[in-house]
Amino acid sequence: MEPASERLVSSHPLDMDTENQAPLALRPQCFDEMVGQRELLSNLQVFVKAAKERQEALDHILLCGPPGLGKTTLANLIAREMQVQIHVTSGPALERKDMAGILSQLQEFDILFIDEIHRLSPIVEEILYPAMEDFKFDLILGGGPHARTLEVPLKPFTLIGATTRTGLLTGPLRDRFGYTGRVNYYPTEDLCAIVERAAELIDLACDHAGAWEIAKRCRGTPRIANRLLRRVRDFAEVDGDGHIDQGLAAHALNRLGVDEHGFDEMDRRFMDMLVNKFKGGPVGIETLGAALGEDTDTLESVYEPYLIKGGYLERTPRGRCATPSGFELLGISAPSSKGQNSLL
Ligand SMILES: Nc1ncnc2c1ncn2[C@@H]1O[C@H](COP(=O)(O)OP(=O)(O)OP(=O)(O)O)[C@@H](O)[C@H]1O
Ligand SMILES: [Mg+2]
Repeated sequence: MEPASERLVSSHPLDMDTENQAPLALRPQCFDEMVGQRELLSNLQVFVKAAKERQEALDHILLCGPPGLGKTTLANLIAREMQVQIHVTSGPALERKDMAGILSQLQEFDILFIDEIHRLSPIVEEILYPAMEDFKFDLILGGGPHARTLEVPLKPFTLIGATTRTGLLTGPLRDRFGYTGRVNYYPTEDLCAIVERAAELIDLACDHAGAWEIAKRCRGTPRIANRLLRRVRDFAEVDGDGHIDQGLAAHALNRLGVDEHGFDEMDRRFMDMLVNKFKGGPVGIETLGAALGEDTDTLESVYEPYLIKGGYLERTPRGRCATPSGFELLGISAPSSKGQNSLL
């Protein structure tokens, strides 16, 4: 059987795996090449093995977690290990007729990967319910008073949904997944291994301290680690001798505006706005979004999770609050009446 990646089907041009099209194809090609996320990976390996042994379709899987941590990579790896075809699409791009077309194309045990599954339209979601549960869907023929529904049987397949916002998934959809896997931010050691692996793949001289410096500043995210490595390589070639060590990496990352916490300009503006303009909060996300000129969805799915994980920000029922560490980050001591205790 040919490898799954060569038979990758994309139903929308935007879904093309640009990271694989780029000259720097760094996606792990098998479970063993995937660094970190041990618990999730070993569970997935068990499910894959069991499904293969029983000669059944793998149960539907929901992968959730912030962007760039490997959800798409995992879906591709699962397809590869299952030796089945993966059909890649994305929630917002799907219309009713696309969904019907995609579902009826699926072969036995194939994987349908829907990225940003929390952004499916309700009508598409409704087609998915019977498809996921009973492997069938209702095709509506004709229109108006003469419309008829035809039940179309489907081959057993696996839906893998990826989302950065589990909270936005509707209950009925969430309940139809047999397993929900959370992809977490990576510790520095794992990111260092990812940077070292990527450097080796692109034939780049990067010593351990250099890789560690990049790993420390990439917001726990492999995609950012790979991107920073590419930019640091540019500085190494232009400002240095092509070799990346700690000094060169720190120089390049400072030039790129990435500080020692891994924060970029938006993280700093976010904290600055919260602490200085809104006196540490509580402040609503809509207000923050308007003040920063940034979409609230991006703030909630990309920026906030990392600030929360670092202990700088809290989400409370009354709004966003800076923690004492958040105040310290800006060199300000936290007012005693602020912070989490005042809200309890
Ligand atoms: N565990 C890992 N080991 C090595 N590289 C990884 C790992 N996880 C992710 N990567 C790298 O990070 C990049 C981003 O991963 P991926 O596209 O799978 O993230 P994602 O979670 O699907 O992001 P998004 O939510 O934005 O779709 C990949 O190209 C891959 O090279
Ligand atoms: Mg993805």
